[in-house]
Amino acid sequence: MTVSGHGARHVAIIMDGNGRWAKKRMLPRVAGHKAGVEAVRTIVRAAGELGLEAMTLYAFSSENWKRPEEEVNDLMGLMKRFILSDLDEFAANDVKLKVIGNWRALAPDVVALIDNALERTSGNKRTTLAVALNYGAQDELVRAANAAAANGKISAETIEANLDTADMPPLDLLIRTSGEVRLSNFLLWQSAYAELYFTDTLWPDFTPADLKAALDQFARRDRRYGGL
Ligand code: IPE
Ligand code: IPE
Ligand code: MG
Repeated sequence: MTVSGHGARHVAIIMDGNGRWAKKRMLPRVAGHKAGVEAVRTIVRAAGELGLEAMTLYAFSSENWKRPEEEVNDLMGLMKRFILSDLDEFAANDVKLKVIGNWRALAPDVVALIDNALERTSGNKRTTLAVALNYGAQDELVRAANAAAANGKISAETIEANLDTADMPPLDLLIRTSGEVRLSNFLLWQSAYAELYFTDTLWPDFTPADLKAALDQFARRDRRYGGL
């Protein structure tokens, strides 16, 4: 059964707090990232069950290269394993994979893996899962503006048409876990009229019930878009 009385079509999540989750347990940061991948699995499944057409997850920002090389390698390794091991799950749940950000600049083996996963899930219809990888909204906007200019005209419409998310429904709800109250260069354009939801829950502890709670609150918000 799908539940979509909340009215949201597209939810994005800044999945933050893996490191603090591990620290609380006196575990290495990579243990937090592994637990974070488990949370991704359950939340993607829940997204379909909750009737969402699209979910965008911030997995690696264009600024995350500032982290120690070991952590960056751990994150890339987990990403590769996630994509490989979950291809069957995507098929079973009718999930179409999409990747946003400057992912073509990643290592050739990651790019090849992504290309394959995109192709294998391209016919799936229920939910689009967009993973933001090497993503920065300012970089996305610069690319979109250049593409618009190359075709002669920069306007809100031509920029929007060249965003990485151009083929997705408008962003309804942006969630950030872990208590930080900032956007960290995520979906700046798309957030113009998205509803924002911040929770102290650390990403590995975020459950389908938490997603449901965010959607319940979203359903009660009054979106005015500047009108009355
Ligand atoms: C989010 O968790 C995952 C990524 C940014 C890749 P963090 O690694 O940022 O966890 P904290 O913020 O240090 O707790
Ligand atoms: C944002 O989290 C990026 C991702 C969740 C992938 P960060 O942990 O990198 O953000 P800051 O550094 O706290 O702003
Ligand atoms: Mg963080």
